[in-house]
Amino acid sequence: MRTIHVIGIGAGDPDHLTLQAIKAIKATEVFFLLDKGEEKSDLTGLRKAMLDEHIPDGSYRVVEARDPARDRKTDNYAPAVDDWRSRRADIYERLIGEELDDGQTGAFLVWGDPALYDSTLGILEEILERGRVEFSYDVIPGISSVSALVARHRTGLNRVARPVQITTGRRLAQGFPEGVDDVVVMLDAHQSFTHYTDQDIEIHWGAYIGTPDEILVSGPLAEAAPRIAELRAEARARKGWIMDTYLLRRNPGG
Ligand SMILES: C[S@@+](CC[C@H](N)C(=O)[O-])C[C@H]1O[C@@H](n2cnc3c(N)ncnc32)[C@H](O)[C@@H]1O
Repeated sequence: MRTIHVIGIGAGDPDHLTLQAIKAIKATEVFFLLDKGEEKSDLTGLRKAMLDEHIPDGSYRVVEARDPARDRKTDNYAPAVDDWRSRRADIYERLIGEELDDGQTGAFLVWGDPALYDSTLGILEEILERGRVEFSYDVIPGISSVSALVARHRTGLNRVARPVQITTGRRLAQGFPEGVDDVVVMLDAHQSFTHYTDQDIEIHWGAYIGTPDEILVSGPLAEAAPRIAELRAEARARKGWIMDTYLLRRNPGG
């Protein structure tokens, strides 16, 4: 039987790696690294640096593959994501089947925590359902960008005895979630927070959190929004890509 570790590696700071993750890394023979394209090759570089640091004798193999691109132009969001996921499953299935021998251990190094807005677990289940490749897998939790964001802003995720919701920029653009005043927003390519500058909301925003490029801004949304938009555009132009997450904290009376 093949074994796969799905290892959460944290959100950008090499020191986010947990002791459990390091143990799993050391116990792995083959690492599958999926490159999302040139602009994000920094993220692959960070993974390789982690392997160099924790397995200095180089006694492992890296198998690299190109992650298929998702159709971002279509209006049919859900089918486009399904199609993308199944094309990724084809690639992962081939990698596991061809590059990992029976009895060997492989690993996927997943950004942040594998349980949060990441498709690796779903893809592995899809491959097992297909039944062509056999393996067992476990999941090593990682420090998510959400934990990293609130830690860097030295704030809690929720207020006392209150709920918090984690959502996407796409959903926030459709309306402020009902029943909550504390909302964490990820995957926001369109600065959806700008829809709510007329409300009494505090924002804690972070880009490239945990990396040398980290940018943090917090304050009343109406004041912070233009500054964030400017910093975001400048950073995106300079690096070619951006990863940002934010917490919106609404004053219930506002
Ligand atoms: C596909 S999701 C992956 C989330 C990841 N599994 C986690 O636990 O953080 C990618 C989104 O995570 C957020 N993100 C990940 N790393 C980040 C970082 N270092 N700084 C800011 N946001 C980050 C951004 O919202 C980005 O669009």
